[in-house]
Amino acid sequence: MKLNIAVLPGDGIGPEVTAQAVKVLKAIAINFNHVFTFSNAEVGAGAIEKFGDPLPESTVETCKNADAILFGAIGKTSYDLDPYAKVRPEQGLLRLRKTLDLHTNIRPVIAYDDLLIKSSLKKTQIKDTNLVIYRELTSGIYFGDKFLSEDNNTASDVCKYTRNEVERVAHMAFKAAQSRKRKLTLVDKANVLESSRLWRRVVQELASQYPNVEVTYTYVDNAAMELIINPKQFDVILTENMFGDILSEEASVIVGSIGLLASASIGDKHVMFEPIHGAYTKATNKGIANPIASILSAAMLLEHFGLDDEAALVREAVDKSLTLHITTPDLNNKYDNITTTKVGDFIEDFINNPDETNLN
Ligand code: IPM
Repeated sequence: MKLNIAVLPGDGIGPEVTAQAVKVLKAIAINFNHVFTFSNAEVGAGAIEKFGDPLPESTVETCKNADAILFGAIGKTSYDLDPYAKVRPEQGLLRLRKTLDLHTNIRPVIAYDDLLIKSSLKKTQIKDTNLVIYRELTSGIYFGDKFLSEDNNTASDVCKYTRNEVERVAHMAFKAAQSRKRKLTLVDKANVLESSRLWRRVVQELASQYPNVEVTYTYVDNAAMELIINPKQFDVILTENMFGDILSEEASVIVGSIGLLASASIGDKHVMFEPIHGAYTKATNKGIANPIASILSAAMLLEHFGLDDEAALVREAVDKSLTLHITTPDLNNKYDNITTTKVGDFIEDFINNPDETNLN
């Protein structure tokens, strides 16, 4: 298969982790006779410094011309310290999602047996967790009208949804449930928010098209608690943009490190794959950033194009690296010299030679 992949490493640890994912994809291409080409483009704080724009038009063009986008991370401490900055790295990512209409963000949360000990939660609570969050990504409060009065004393962000916006992500979540444990939980705040009542109404109506899927409804405050107390009860969680952002970050506690959580952002014309973590600026170039979320995002890319054997091999390599403690310090108290690149190298070697790879 020929794939043209736009690579947007971004800021902070983004370039380091993305380099490992690209390395893994190159190994897959060689071993399975595919032709993957990579076109790099700028986004985020680096793009602001170079072009005065967190999402230059040339980056949008590169992405539009690609079959898929591999995204790293964006952000910089100076912007976090100045939330009033008018031009911000995050705008690059948000505009990209909106421009390419990447409406459905898929965030799997799987507890690896070997890492149960890394979670601050009880092993018995989290063992066998295997859920996926379907987060609406291009609407809601993130993209509603914003207002700040001239005297800076009144502000608002509108949370607006249309039926169509809810339907498209809901259909994808229902279909995912059908191929999983056939359980879908809508997380909303329908006891308070009109937009949540729209979500509920739409999902209740769509449910009749998926009679084999059991649908439950949970308020987001309760879902936040249940996700920690009993994550195993969930199969597919469907939710709006901001609730999905918060719940997926919370869910990283279950797996032991946010450095493990990958995601796919799917639109009707474009697809993008990105770790859920941010730029983690203070870890930049220290070799301590966990590349697995980025590598697993590459596995999701392969799956999106039906390259299931290829993705399975990447996942097997990741499993092996976790079992052998070939992991960065966020997960490792056995070896303290395993760098970002070493993890990538191990996974690449495993792909090249699955029967012989070991720590050396
Ligand atoms: C994420 C991030 C982004 C979001 C930020 C960087 C704008 O937290 O992808 O989850 O809030 O969507």
